[in-house]
Amino acid sequence: APDGRKNGDIYRDYIDDRNASSTETLYTTSNGVPMPHPYETQRVGENGPLLLQDFHLIDLISHFDRERIPERVVHAKGGGAHGYYKTTDPLDDICLADIFQPGRECPITVRFSTVGGESGSHDCARDPRGFSVKFRTAEGNWDVVANNTPVFFLRDPAKFPHFIHTQKRHPATHLTHADDSTMFWDYLSQNPESIHQVMILFGDRGIPDGWRKMHGYFGHTIKLVNKKGDWVYAQMHMKSKQGSDFITQQDSANYSPDYAMKDLFFAIEKGEYPGWDVCFQTMTGKEAEELWEKEKINIFDLTHVWPQKQFPLRKVGEFYLNENIKNYFAEIEQIGFNPSHAPPGIEPSADPVLQSRLFSYPDAHRHRIGVNYQQLPVNSSQTPYRIGNFQRDGNMAFYNQGSRPAYLSSIEPMSFRQRSVDLDKTHGHFIGEAVTFLSEIRPEDFKAPRTLWEKVFDDGAKERFVNNVSGHMQTCTKEEIIKRQIAIFREVSDDLATRLEKATGVKGYDGIANLRFNGTHNGFAKDESL
Ligand code: HEM
Repeated sequence: APDGRKNGDIYRDYIDDRNASSTETLYTTSNGVPMPHPYETQRVGENGPLLLQDFHLIDLISHFDRERIPERVVHAKGGGAHGYYKTTDPLDDICLADIFQPGRECPITVRFSTVGGESGSHDCARDPRGFSVKFRTAEGNWDVVANNTPVFFLRDPAKFPHFIHTQKRHPATHLTHADDSTMFWDYLSQNPESIHQVMILFGDRGIPDGWRKMHGYFGHTIKLVNKKGDWVYAQMHMKSKQGSDFITQQDSANYSPDYAMKDLFFAIEKGEYPGWDVCFQTMTGKEAEELWEKEKINIFDLTHVWPQKQFPLRKVGEFYLNENIKNYFAEIEQIGFNPSHAPPGIEPSADPVLQSRLFSYPDAHRHRIGVNYQQLPVNSSQTPYRIGNFQRDGNMAFYNQGSRPAYLSSIEPMSFRQRSVDLDKTHGHFIGEAVTFLSEIRPEDFKAPRTLWEKVFDDGAKERFVNNVSGHMQTCTKEEIIKRQIAIFREVSDDLATRLEKATGVKGYDGIANLRFNGTHNGFAKDESL
């Protein structure tokens, strides 16, 4: 070839594809044969049937027929942008990950989303927001798959598919919980550990004003390991430099369905690059045990937060979004974030929900995108070394690692990096009765929700909260469910329950002591059988 390429070097640079302009592009069929016009069909005579030999038409239509891939089973509606992260305050004393060492930077891609809605659903739905960041570090990709709320609805992963199903379309009516909220409140009234997240969801933070003005929280406890092999537990926070703001339920009707996507895109177009500080709270294993003994807060239970007074935030770095995507499908729909992607020094904890997520995401990606999804440009890593392993073939193997042996060969050995630290040390952990108590409702579960109601919400926020809940409950068709849910709210505050009774016209139960929950042991009940 004139430019010296060998016949095997056929891959066009991805950058080339991304930046291609129409004027430099020649219209061809998918195999590269030039075509004089895209609107052309071969037929027999003037009004006759079509010809099977018309590859152009068949090529066009059969590709069209396969344009859709499954949308994400949750978080289907979203958008994002590219940017960069830099470490401003190194964390090298407690974490050996290269990205936290002095002076480090790396490119990132962020995707924001709602949770329950479908791909075309409204950006201003009352729903938690997803906040995923792919850090392309020099030691492989680190994906933070977070939300805009520090807690979650559940602490037992087996509940997740059930809970999500209550927010999807009803099997018979095909209605969503906007039209029929019965399933949604049925689940919540049977699983009171959701109350902390419910207080946040139906409070002002339930509809953030776009994606720029919200914080992100991983929520799960993770472990940071240093060069000596010592570790601490950590919670990651991403604090918006734009502050936080919200939209009221009433006002949300005035926004367009793609409001958050537009808001981000045009801010970046105008050069107003949104930024976030990356911070950690840290805790030793001993402190975790003390927190359990004194406060009954289990750090493997993501329905609780770590008290910030006792465990203050420590900033490590910041990131900015300064580049819009050029191709939504290639750069956002096909991106796959996975909590099990982490470089050495960042480890999962024994939080059972996190443990399940480690499995669930790559499993979903193999289904949604395909087994070789990691080879797609947006998912691939940007390491200073050539990556290699023994994963070969499968659908759409594009980078198939050339002629290297596909087994651990002694004839043509590859290189290995030494383990960063002594593994024995990194895997010691606090047991703390984590699993036994996860499904029991205890008085501690209502402490933080009560603080929200009594100390955090002002009069206006309280009024909006009551309107948001009672408004949503209007489509709940079973009074028994509302009675139960009001009983759960009564454990938060009598004042709150009384106001809800007034707003819904339903008299709730006195409290939860006499209720049986279908997925949770009732730690309030005097009657053992509950
Ligand atoms: C997306 C499963 C809990 C945040 C997803 C997806 C699955 C999933 C299968 C779709 C992935 C894809 O197709 O790319 C689960 C399971 C959970 C769980 C099984 C619990 C047992 C959570 C929690 C958070 C979270 C606690 C936040 C702290 C997200 C986000 C996305 C997502 C942000 C969207 C990722 C993106 O932007 O592509 N989840 N999830 N999930 N999940 Fe979860």
